[in-house]
Amino acid sequence: MFFYRCILFVPGIDRKKITKAFSLGADAVVLDLEDAVAISEKDTARSVVQEVINTEKLPPAFVRVNGVHTRYILRDLQAVVNSGVLGIMLAKAESGEEVRMADWLIGLLEEEKGIPRGTLELIPFIESARGIESATEIAAACPRVKRLALGGNDYTAETWTTYSEEGTELFYARSKLVVASSAAGIEPPVDTVCPFIKNVDSLRRDALRARKMGFQGKLVIHPAQIEPVINVFSPTAKEIRTAKRIIAAFEEAEASGTGVIQLDGKMVEYPIVNRARQILSTLK
Ligand code: COA
Ligand code: MG
Repeated sequence: MFFYRCILFVPGIDRKKITKAFSLGADAVVLDLEDAVAISEKDTARSVVQEVINTEKLPPAFVRVNGVHTRYILRDLQAVVNSGVLGIMLAKAESGEEVRMADWLIGLLEEEKGIPRGTLELIPFIESARGIESATEIAAACPRVKRLALGGNDYTAETWTTYSEEGTELFYARSKLVVASSAAGIEPPVDTVCPFIKNVDSLRRDALRARKMGFQGKLVIHPAQIEPVINVFSPTAKEIRTAKRIIAAFEEAEASGTGVIQLDGKMVEYPIVNRARQILSTLK
């Protein structure tokens, strides 16, 4: 299992930012062909991204393509299905059927380009009420889908609300993605971009909320957001110490035939130990 604590978006049109993006220490970069690119520049951005992924040995990279109902999807995928990228992020994913359409096209292009079918990951970017309500079928749409991502800016606009520092408006959408991912047996989802570029405290609280709700990491848009987000999504020294103590104490008890003990005033039984093992498994 590979967890992305922090994935950095960069507009596919901006060569300078793209070069910089790869040097900033995010776990992965998403080159965007969708909303970060003006409609008049779609063709140029596609060429820029194609050139970047063809000519350089890239650190972990995804490309966000336009939705399956746009006129761009076929040309986007033809240009960017490439062994140099880890996968494709599909904008405005709204149903399992849409995700399977993208999966099918990616499969054909993989074959055409001599890449073993199924190599590229597909991250459905869920950013509408319809997408949220279809999250369960989207998460189970095809084996290429290993994690979902939440798009909070489109979602809040569509649901007549505003991305706030308290995060109340995203509560249902976030919970839905966490539960849908778990029910489908895929990895935990990746949380939305936070629009507060200059307010690191707000960003930190937003990321912490998402981590507590079950997300594996968060999308970011600016270099200043990377370090705080990586920090929030990395287990703390205290969490690691506690997890190790829980495992040691429980294994000792289990060896003498006991399945439930008390440690530091709390009950420890199998699910608590499993959670402690989970925390240690995410260490980089
Ligand atoms: N990737 C790489 N570098 C970035 C970056 C990004 N996402 N965002 C900013 N930078 C760079 C700038 O180029 C600048 O570099 P420099 O000091 O070498 O000139 C530096 O970081 C500081 O940037 P700043 O001036 O604070 O921001 P900006 O006004 O240039 O850009 C945004 C602000 C929002 C336009 C920019 O952060 C951005 O494009 N983010 C990604 C947007 C996106 O992809 N959205 C789609 C998904 S929601
Ligand atoms: Mg969007």
